[in-house]
Amino acid sequence: VHFTAEEKAAITSIWDKVDVEKIGGETLGRLLIVYPWTQRFFDKFGNLSSAPAIMGNPRIRAHGKKVLTSLGLAVKNMDNLKEVFAHLSELHCDNLHVDPENFKLLGNMLVIVLSTHFVKEFTPEVQAAWQKLVMGVANALSHNYH
Ligand code: HEM
Repeated sequence: VHFTAEEKAAITSIWDKVDVEKIGGETLGRLLIVYPWTQRFFDKFGNLSSAPAIMGNPRIRAHGKKVLTSLGLAVKNMDNLKEVFAHLSELHCDNLHVDPENFKLLGNMLVIVLSTHFVKEFTPEVQAAWQKLVMGVANALSHNYH
C-alpha cells in the first residue's frame, strides 16, 4: 500500500488525539461483543459474561491498549508495514493461532469506534485513509502466516 501525503495527514490528525487505552479498550471490547467467537482467545482474561462485563474488564482494556499502542507503530511507519509487523505476524500465527480474518474485523471495529469519538473530523476522506491503514496492517499481520 502507498499512502499519499494527504492520507498520511488525515490519519495523523486523528491519531494525535487518540487515547490508546480508551479507544483500544473499546475496540477490543466491542470486537468480543459483536463477534463472540473471538472471546475464545481471551478466555483466561476473567469475566466476559456480558457486554457490560467485557467493557468493564480491566484486562481487556489493558490488552486493547497494548494492541492500539502497537498500531501506533503503523501510524509512524506507514511505508513499512510488513517489516514493522513481521514479528507480530509470526507470533499470532505460530503461538496464538489467531485466524487472520480477525485482523480485518478488528480494523473495521477500530474505524467504527473512531467514528463515534471523532464525529465531526471523521469525514469520508479521513475514513478512507483509515480503512487503507487498517487493511494494510491486517495484510502485514497475515504476511508471515504459513
Ligand atoms: C497479543 C498486537 C489483533 C489476539 C498481542 C500483542 C500485541 C498484539 C502487540 C502482545 C504481544 C506480546 O506480548 O509480545 C495486535 C495487533 C492487532 C492484533 C496490532 C491488529 C491490529 C488481534 C486479534 C486477536 C488477537 C484480532 C484475536 C481475535 C491476541 C492474543 C494475544 C495477543 C490472544 C496474547 C494475549 C495474552 O495472553 O497476553 N497482539 N493484535 N490479536 N493478540 Fe493481538
